[in-house]
Amino acid sequence: MATDSNKFQAIISHCKEYGFIFPSSEIYDGLQAVYDYGQWGSELKKNIKDYWWKHMTQLHENIVGIDAAIFMHPTTWKASGHVDNFNDPMIDNKDSKKRYRVDHLIEAKAEEMRNEGREDEANGLLDELDKFIAKDDFDGLRQLIINYGIKCSISKTSNWSDIRQFNLMFSTQIGSVSDETNEIYLRPETAQGIFVNFLNVQKTGRLKIPFGIAQIGKAFRNEIVARQFIFRMREFEQMEMQYFIRPGTQKEWYETWKEERMKWHLSLGIPRERYRFHDHVKLAHYADAACDIEYEFPIGFKEVEGIHSRTDFDLKNHQEYSKKKMQYFDSEINQNYIPYVIETSIGLDRTILMMLSEGYTEEDLSTSEKQDSRVILRFPAKIAPMKLAVLPLVKKDGLPEIARTIMDDCKSHFRCFYEEKDTIGKRYRRMDAIGTPFCVTVDQQTKTDNTVTIRYRDTMQQERILADNVKEVVLKEIN
Ligand code: GAP
Repeated sequence: MATDSNKFQAIISHCKEYGFIFPSSEIYDGLQAVYDYGQWGSELKKNIKDYWWKHMTQLHENIVGIDAAIFMHPTTWKASGHVDNFNDPMIDNKDSKKRYRVDHLIEAKAEEMRNEGREDEANGLLDELDKFIAKDDFDGLRQLIINYGIKCSISKTSNWSDIRQFNLMFSTQIGSVSDETNEIYLRPETAQGIFVNFLNVQKTGRLKIPFGIAQIGKAFRNEIVARQFIFRMREFEQMEMQYFIRPGTQKEWYETWKEERMKWHLSLGIPRERYRFHDHVKLAHYADAACDIEYEFPIGFKEVEGIHSRTDFDLKNHQEYSKKKMQYFDSEINQNYIPYVIETSIGLDRTILMMLSEGYTEEDLSTSEKQDSRVILRFPAKIAPMKLAVLPLVKKDGLPEIARTIMDDCKSHFRCFYEEKDTIGKRYRRMDAIGTPFCVTVDQQTKTDNTVTIRYRDTMQQERILADNVKEVVLKEIN
C-alpha cells in the first residue's frame, strides 16, 4: 500500500503501467521534464480540456475561444517583458570558460552522490537547491556549489564566477538562414496570442466590454527545477482566459473570477479543504493583484492555477511596440480606453496530476480466506477516459453478439471498451485501474430477460438493469 510519502511515486508508476503517461522518447532514455500522453492519458486530457472549454465559452455568453499560433513575432516577447525578465541562474568556470546551468551542475553532483550510495545527502542537496532557487538567493546557490566541492568537468577546478540570469524561453530560427535576425521563440505562455488578437476578435465578434477570450495550447519553458513528473515540464499546456474590463473595475472582477474559478474546481468533485488561495506578496511587474489556487498534491500544497489582475500592461506595451492602437471605444460612457485585464491561467498537465492525485486509491479487500487489493482511479464520470466497459461473461453462446449490440448503441455517444478475454474479476480490476466508472456484463440471463449486470466502480455494487437502458444510465452520469 502506498503511504502519503510514496503516493507520488506510485502514481507515476501507475501512469506508465496503465497507458496514461510515458517519459518522452523513452527508448533513448527519455528527455528530462518532457512526457508523452498514452492512450488513456490523452483521453483524460481531452475530457478535461473539453470540460474547461465548455465552461468558459459555452456557459459564458460573453467569452469566445481562439487558437493562436505557437510562433509569434519576436517583438511580442519584448513587449510582454519576457525577453528582459523571464530568467534563471547560470554560472561560468573561469578556467575552462564553460558555462553551466546552476541547477544542472548541482543535480549532477546529487546524481554522483546517489551513485556512491549517499542517497540522503543527495536528497538534502536537492532540497537546498530548491530552497535557494525559490528565494532567488544566488549567493546561497554559489556557496552551495563551493561547499559541496563541485568542480568543472573540463578544468577540474572550482574557480567559479558569480551567478547570472538565464532566459527561460526556448529559441529557434525561422527560415533557412540561421542568424540572429531570424531568431524566434517558442511561446512561454499562451496569453500573448490573446493580447495581440484582442482587437481582431473584439471587432469581428462585435464584442462589448466586459468580454473574455479563452485559449488552450502548448507553452514551453526551459525550466530549471524539473524533477516533479508532469508538475513542472518543459513542454506543457495552459488553459488561459483574458477578461477585458473597464479600468477601475478590476478589484470587483478579480474577486468574481476567484470565486468563479473555485466553483469550477469544486465541480470536479474535489473537497474544498484540498484547495487554498495563496495571495502573491511579491507582485509581477504587470500585476496589481494576483493569487494562486493551490491543491494539496501528495508533494504538498502547490499551484494549479493563477488569477492575475494584469492592468493594461500588456495591451499598452503592444500598442507602444507595434505602434498600432489597442484602444476600445466604450459607447456606454462615450470614451476610448485601453481595457484592463483579469487573467485566469490553469495548467492542463497540473490539472491532470490533480485528478490523478485525487482519484488514485489503493484498497485492501482482503478477507480471512485470501489476500486481495485493488487500485482505482476515482475520476468523476464526466472526465473519465473510458465511460463504459461492455463485457460478455463468456466468449460463446451468443453473448459476444449481444454485447456488441450494446456497444453499437452506446459508442457514438461516449467512449466504450469491449473485452472478452480473462475472468470477469480480472477485467473489472483493469477497468478500475483506468478509472472506468461503469462495467456491464452480459450473461446467460441476458438471453432470457434482456437484463445485464451493471457494476459501479467506486462501490463495486452490482444490479441488473435492462440492456436497453445502459446508454441512458451512463449518459445521465456523464452529463
Ligand atoms: N499567463 C500567465 C502565466 O503563464 P504562470 O503562473 O506562469 O502564469 C500559469 O502559469 C499556470 O501554468 C500555472 O498555474 C501552472 O498550472 C502552469 N504551468 C506553469 N509552468 C508550468 C510548467 N513548467 N509545467 C507545467 N505547468 C506549468
